[in-house]
Order: sequence, then structure tokens, then C-alpha cells
Amino acid sequence: MKYLTRLTLGTLLTLAAGQAVQGADGVSIEHLGVNNTLVRVSDDARYILFPVEESVDDATLNLLLDGKQEKTFYVRLARNKVDYYVPFDLTPYKNHSLLFNVVTPQGRSSVREASQDACWEAISLSDSFDTTNTERFRPAFHHTPLYGWMNDPNGMFFKDGVWHLYYQYNPYGSKWQNMTWGHSTSTDLIHWEHHTPAIEPNGLGSVFSGSCVVDKENTAGFGKDAVIALYTSAGVNQIQSLAHSSDSGETFTIYPGNPVLTLDSEARDPNMFWNEETGEWNLLLAHALDKEMLIFTSPDLKTWTLQSAFGKGLGAQDGVWECPDLMRLPVEGTDESKWVLICNLNPGGPFGGSATQYFVGDFDGHTFTADTDASGAVPTKWMDFGKDHYATVSWSGAPEGRNVVIGWMSNWQYAAEVPTMQFRSANTLPRDISLFRAADGQLYLKTVPSPETLALRDRKTLQAKGKSIGKTPAKFALPAAADGICEIDLTLNARKAKSVTITLSNEQGDKVDMTFNPAESTFSFDRTQSGITDFNHDFPAVVTAPTLRDSAAQSLRIFIDRSSIEVFDAEGNFVLTNLVFPNTPYRTLSLKAEGGKASLDKLEIYSIKQ
Ligand code: FRU
Repeated sequence: MKYLTRLTLGTLLTLAAGQAVQGADGVSIEHLGVNNTLVRVSDDARYILFPVEESVDDATLNLLLDGKQEKTFYVRLARNKVDYYVPFDLTPYKNHSLLFNVVTPQGRSSVREASQDACWEAISLSDSFDTTNTERFRPAFHHTPLYGWMNDPNGMFFKDGVWHLYYQYNPYGSKWQNMTWGHSTSTDLIHWEHHTPAIEPNGLGSVFSGSCVVDKENTAGFGKDAVIALYTSAGVNQIQSLAHSSDSGETFTIYPGNPVLTLDSEARDPNMFWNEETGEWNLLLAHALDKEMLIFTSPDLKTWTLQSAFGKGLGAQDGVWECPDLMRLPVEGTDESKWVLICNLNPGGPFGGSATQYFVGDFDGHTFTADTDASGAVPTKWMDFGKDHYATVSWSGAPEGRNVVIGWMSNWQYAAEVPTMQFRSANTLPRDISLFRAADGQLYLKTVPSPETLALRDRKTLQAKGKSIGKTPAKFALPAAADGICEIDLTLNARKAKSVTITLSNEQGDKVDMTFNPAESTFSFDRTQSGITDFNHDFPAVVTAPTLRDSAAQSLRIFIDRSSIEVFDAEGNFVLTNLVFPNTPYRTLSLKAEGGKASLDKLEIYSIKQ
């Protein structure tokens, strides 16, 4: 009797709280009470579209498939206004009963009705989702996700003529969340085809950065030429998991024996490679908070043995160490080669926030030893002197012995606040790296745009040479087509001038100043007045690269996309990657010299093939 009474009361309470309301066609909404609503799909459709409002907290969406828990993901469900929509693909669930059990965030301490917790009526079914670019800051020739948030490139490998690029991806919003491996491929390193995400969050956690290799000798037992991925499962702890693919990286099977590697402290971003010299697999793992890279070996990609740790107290140590890479690189103009250990860190970069440092040294398959400078210290070296270059790692198995890297073109300081909506973040252009010896006797990375970038050149819109440059700016038109996207190929000679400044500007008064100072051997980039800069106080900045040469001549390749500028020293001595958000595209290139006359030896401006 007692039991029955309780049951009746409980049923009554549920009925009082459960309140079905009309949703869009094919969607029924039932509010269960404070913070809890059921969204039922009652029609066939390709997508259910969720409205997003970026400034609200995440709602938790539990998908029940035929009454059973299928997956959990997080969406900033719009509460006051819809900034944009994100699609959830229903194709895999056709002919099943689908229910989203939604827990909205408790934004206030007082009790609120679930009906006011989201724009429920804006949740709708659709057979299409328009990924057409409608944003003015969306890059024209850099890789971006079709929609949603992207950070680190990872898991890249080259196989059968195809460059595979995976990336840290949130398919359900343009801020960091739901870490998934997004996937794109290219046959020319320039044009990218978007694929369905390759590895999704699972019971062990979301899917953080990692790497892929082609297992040519079937050492792992998943088949000859299987693609093996190692990534960090980020749940309560960060543990390392394996997945394998027999369709060249299109789909992956999660290894049931996961995790393959655990530690009792934060470690992530496993980066593995086949070491020809030792006949073993090597793995680098970022021991993030300990600011060191752990080095492991394995015969089969599943059992890993710790060999050593590199980096304690060395290089920049201000932030956490992340996304390692290790490779042997040739020294230009010699028969020599050296090992280079790439270490991304955040914060602690030379201009604030995230950046990539590297160490040159020797590696015997077990231990990495960094070279020292004349004073006996291990020097801190930076891969890129812009503010927007992070998580850079290389492609596994790049052809012709090339070492090709790509980075995330943003900075953790403000990546989630940049003025884009449907998507956030792009990759840098691909770059080929090797080493060169500078006048100080040290080996540095030589970074050039991958040769494939030459194919971007369309029409030469301007050509000039042998022009004297003085105090009065010499002006040249940038291409007006396609929002001014272009490549500038330029050689100047400062001669007697103290400095030469290259300015990109528009009619709105936005400008970027790039100044070459031969006496100091520096090249700086000032974006303090580059356009929209006020979305974050760390964005306006002046950054400076050492040119690593004692010369009055300076050749550059400058790539301008809709919201980025990459400046490459033509010989690869330095590179600066910076985001810019001009109010209208830059229209004019001006050159001026201070303290004497300089000369413009060559100027070629190319529009970009699209
Ligand atoms: C670097 C990083 C990695 C991690 C990933 C998560 O940007 O923090 O260490 O795997 O992003 O998205």
C-alpha cells in the first residue's frame, strides 16, 4: 500500500511537469521540468538543425536510439537569439526511433522553466545544410572546416598520392568542444575535399590530437598498409588510444584494447614514426604540465616502452608543452643531417599566447640530445615569428623525402573570439622545412612555402623593378578581384636606408606595416591598425623576426588571404604568420625608406587561382 501511494504520487508529479509543446514539423518537444527537455524526431530527414547562440553555455544532448543511449554531445543551444545553425546528421539512424534528452545549463540560481531555456521552436528537420561560404573573412586558399570550430592539424599522412589532413574539430559549434577528428584530403596540398569526421568522441573521452602512420609491414596486426592512428582520449584523464583503418583513413575502428598507454600525469598528443635506423617505432608524447617530451619505443604500435624524457628546464617553459614532432632534416648545402624536435607550447610564445619552438640535436632512437650554442646553453628557437602559428606538425610519409608541415593559423589567446561565425580557424599554407647554418654557427629551420603553392599564382597583375624608394611612399595597386587575395613576390635592397617599410592599406585607414631593418637584421609586422582588432586585447600586436643574415637585400613572398598574411623570407630564414581582419580588403601596397634611399629590385603581384 505504502509502495502504491508513492508510485501514484510520482506519476502525478511527472505528468504535471511533462509538458508537450509544438515544435517544428517532425520535431516534438516535451519539457520535463527545470533544465530538462526531450526532443523527439518523428519524420525522416537528413539533418536535425540546432540553433546556436555563442554567448550561452553548452547544453548537454544525449541521443537515445531506440531507447538506448547512443552518444552525448554539447551544443550552445540558442536561448535569446540564433547566431547560426549546426546540423546533426541523421543518415546513420534512418528507420530508428530518435530522442534527444537535452539538459540545458542552469544559468541562474532560481528555478526556471525548461520552456524558456532554448529557442525550441528553432530546432527543425532539413534535407540539406548550406555550407556555402557567406563570410567575408573566410579564407579563399587556406584549408578551413566547412563549418564549426577547428584547432590543431593532426594525424596527417600521405598515401597513394593523397595528402590526408585530420584536425581537432567541433562539428556542433564554432567554439572549442566535442573534440573529434575532422578529415580533409588533397592531391595537390592546396585544394581540399571535406570528408565525414573520422574519429568521434567515445566512452573513453573526446578525441584529442595524435598522429597516423601507414603500417607497411603489418607490425600491429591490423593488415598490411593499415593506417594506424594514436590519439589522446580525453575523459577524466588523458590516456592514449589506438584506432585503425583499412580504407586509407576514411573510417577507423577503435581498438578494444584501449588505452594502449597511460601515465599518472597529464600527457597528450602522441606522435609516432618508424625509425629506419633502429627498426622500431618511436613515439613522442607531450608531458604537458611537466614541460617535457617523453620518448617511447614499440615493435607493434600497441606496447610502448618509455625510454627517456627530453626538455626539463630547456627552451621556453612558460606554458604547457603540447603537440611534439621529431624528424631528421637535411642541412642545406651539406651532406649533413640533424634531428629536430618540435615543441608547441601555450602560453609562453615570444609575442604572447601559443607558439612553436624547436630544438636541433641528435637522436639515437632512445634519447634526444639538443645542440648547445657557444656559451654551452641550449638556445630557444622559434619556428614562426607571427602570432598565429600553432600546433604545427609534419605529414607522415611525405613523398621524395620531403618534410612538409602545416599549422593552425590562430592563437589560444583569442581563437574563440575572432570575428567569424560559421567556422573558426584555418590552417597555414603547407611548408617544406629543412635546416641551414646561420652566421652565428647555429642550425635553424629553413621554412619555405611548399612548391605546390606556386600553382596558386594566376595572373600577374603588376610588375615593377629598379625603382628608387625614399621618404615619399611609392604606391602600387593590389588586385581588386576576389577581395584582394594575392601573392606578392618582392626583392628590395635597403642600400643606405636605415629601414624600409612595406605598408598594406585600404580607404578605411586600416593598415599593416612591415619594416625591414638591415642594421638590426630584423623584420617586423605591425597589425595594431590592421582593421578589426578590438575583439580581444591581445590581438593588436607588433611582432619581430630575426632575418638571420647580414645583408641589405631582402626577398619576400607574401601571401594575402581574406583574413591572414603569411610573410616568407624567400630563402626560408624566417616566416611570420598573422591574422588580420581589415574592414575592407587592402587595396594599396606602399614602400618607403627612412634614413636614405633604398631600391625596389623586383615586385610581382599575382592574383590567386580559385
Ligand atoms: C593544442 C591542444 C592539444 C590537444 C588539443 C585539444 O592546441 O591543446 O594539446 O590535444 O589541443 O583540442
